[in-house]
Parts: sequence; C-alpha cells; structure tokens
Amino acid sequence: MKSYTIAVIPGDGTGPEVIREGLKVLDALSGKFGIKFNFQHFDFGGARYLRTGETLPDGALDELKKFQAIYLGAIGHPDVKPGILERGILLRLRFELDQYINLRPVKLYPGVDCPIKDKKPEDIDFVVVRENTEGLYTGAGGVLKKGTLDEVATQESINTRKGVERCVRFAFEYCKKRNKEKKLTLCGKTNVLTYAFDLWERTFHEVAKEYPDITTDYAHVDAVTMWFVKNPEWFDVIVTDNMFGDIITDLGAMIQGGMGIAAGGNINPDGVSMFEPIGGSAPKYTGKNVVNPLAAICAGGMMLEQLGEVRAALLIEKAAMEVTGKHLKSLAAGKMGYSTSEVGDLVAKLVTELSPD
Ligand code: IPM
Ligand code: MN
Repeated sequence: MKSYTIAVIPGDGTGPEVIREGLKVLDALSGKFGIKFNFQHFDFGGARYLRTGETLPDGALDELKKFQAIYLGAIGHPDVKPGILERGILLRLRFELDQYINLRPVKLYPGVDCPIKDKKPEDIDFVVVRENTEGLYTGAGGVLKKGTLDEVATQESINTRKGVERCVRFAFEYCKKRNKEKKLTLCGKTNVLTYAFDLWERTFHEVAKEYPDITTDYAHVDAVTMWFVKNPEWFDVIVTDNMFGDIITDLGAMIQGGMGIAAGGNINPDGVSMFEPIGGSAPKYTGKNVVNPLAAICAGGMMLEQLGEVRAALLIEKAAMEVTGKHLKSLAAGKMGYSTSEVGDLVAKLVTELSPD
C-alpha cells in the first residue's frame, strides 16, 4: 500500500473547519485507491503567536521538509497586526521551502453562478502560474526618516534570471501537459516596468523556442484584468510575477464563483509543496460551520495530483462538480443550503460512489 506523510496546518479562522472536511474526503479516498495517509498536525498560526510570540518555532522548517506535502488552511488573525503572520508563516514557508510556483486554476464549475453574464463553464477554464518567491514579495527595500515629513519608503521588485526562467519553464511544461489550446500568455507590464518585464519577456521568448507547439501571447496586466471579465475564454495558461499573480488570481476566484471554490498550490517540483484554499481565514464566519469547504477540498485534490495520485485527484474534481451542479444553492458562506460539514459529507460520499473513469 502506498503511503504519504502529510503535514497539516489548519491555521486560523475558518482554516480548521475547511481542512477538517478536506481530510474527511482524503480519508474517504484512501480505501478506494489503496492509499494510506499519515497526517501530522501543526498548530502554527495566530492563536499560537498570541500565546507564545512565535510565528514558526525553531526547527519547524526542518521538520516540515521531512513531509511529502503540506496541507494548509488559512493564516491571518484579527488580533495580530497585518504582515506578522503573513511574512512570518505563509511567505516564510513559501520562500524557505522554495515553492517557486503558485498554481491557481480558475475554472467555472457546473451550476455555479458566474458574476459575468452569459459565461458558461466552457468559457472559464484557465490556470495562472504565479511566480512565488521573488518580485515585490522579497522584502527588499527600506525606509528612511520614518514618521517624519521626509520619510522615504522603497519596496523593490527582485527578478532573477534563474527565478524567472524556472517559473517560465514550469509554465511551458504545464501548458504542454494540459489538454487544452496549448496557449501560454505572459502577463506583465513591459510598457512601464522596463527592466523587470524586459527580463521576463526575453526569457519567455527564449524558452518558447523549445516549445514550438505552444502558441505564445503577451498581455499587460491591466488588460488582463479587463479580459478576465470580457473574454475569459481567451486564456489557457497565464504566467506572471508574484504581485500581478496575487492580484489577478483574486479576480480569477471571483469569476469562477468566489473564494469558496478557489484552490491553489505552492509548488516546489523538487521539494515539499503546500496546498491551500486561497480565500483566507474569514474571521467573521469562524466556528459557524457555514463557509464553503470546496476550495480546501479541491486544494486536497491538487495535492493528490502533485503526489502522483492523478485518478484520485480527478475524482475529487468530479465529485466537487457534482456537488456544485446538483446540490449547492450557492457557493457563498451561509447560503449553500448545507453546512460546511454537510458539504464535506457529500463530497466524501460521492468520491466513494463515483467512478474515476
Ligand atoms: C495569497 C495571499 C497572500 C499573498 C498574503 C496573505 C500574504 O493574498 O495567497 O494570495 O499575498 O500571497
Ligand atoms: Mn492574494
């Protein structure tokens, strides 16, 4: 029997509620596919920080490196100043585990209310490959004369040839494997960010020569936001930097029906990857059993795919589609017609009943 060791970080807010449902679904699959999961829970997050003053304790990263994947709920606490947990936990994990890709599928599932009039599931089905360890996120820059009228604040976008190239290569490979149009769009801002996106553009075109079967395209980030709304069917795979990827994937989540369904993977193809619903900790819904666990469940599916359990991953997607298509009244918290745990029960039941093929 194949077995996988998974570090589980439920985290803050509604994180634990949705991760519980994700684990329920994974457990339901394990019998069917002869997979054994060894889950080990870690209590990193806002509550622990408030108790101990520690974000990630010493040795945590070394410990996490021993697992085959990390399954994360949400990081963010209303009583902790913005930036501390994000930098101290989430970004630190992404950076130190060198998870240089943030993979975010944007797919409109059947039955889901799309805020864009007349768009159907066949119109919204693309994937954003977001660089995840560089750009504006590195913390480069600084402040001078803080608090005075002469204050100077800089925040620099760091783009390395190596970092850009590995991200672009991943995107081409991903696009090649994805059974769609085989079209890769670089999303940048070459008309203003003439150093950073010049590097991106040159790298993109150089790597493109190795992929003659892939159609390449370029769009400025502002235009991309426009087209996500106007013509989302134009996109297949999009590759972009960290900051633009952050922004356009929130818009992507909205056009696919909201944060309740948006899943993502922080991927290190040669190391430990981490999977999470991208919606955050949703403090106002915490403990109410009303938020949608599908994003977390689908993140679990992405984790299975990364582990090589492709058929099990497909089954999660199939079950999630059945749930949106036939059961949920809405994807929004409190409006689903089901509680968080009932949605988990439903998906767990479906994955045992449905056939993956
Ligand atoms: C995301 C989040 C994070 C980011 C925050 C919480 C640091 O918005 O995963 O998209 O900006 O990457
Ligand atoms: Mn974000």
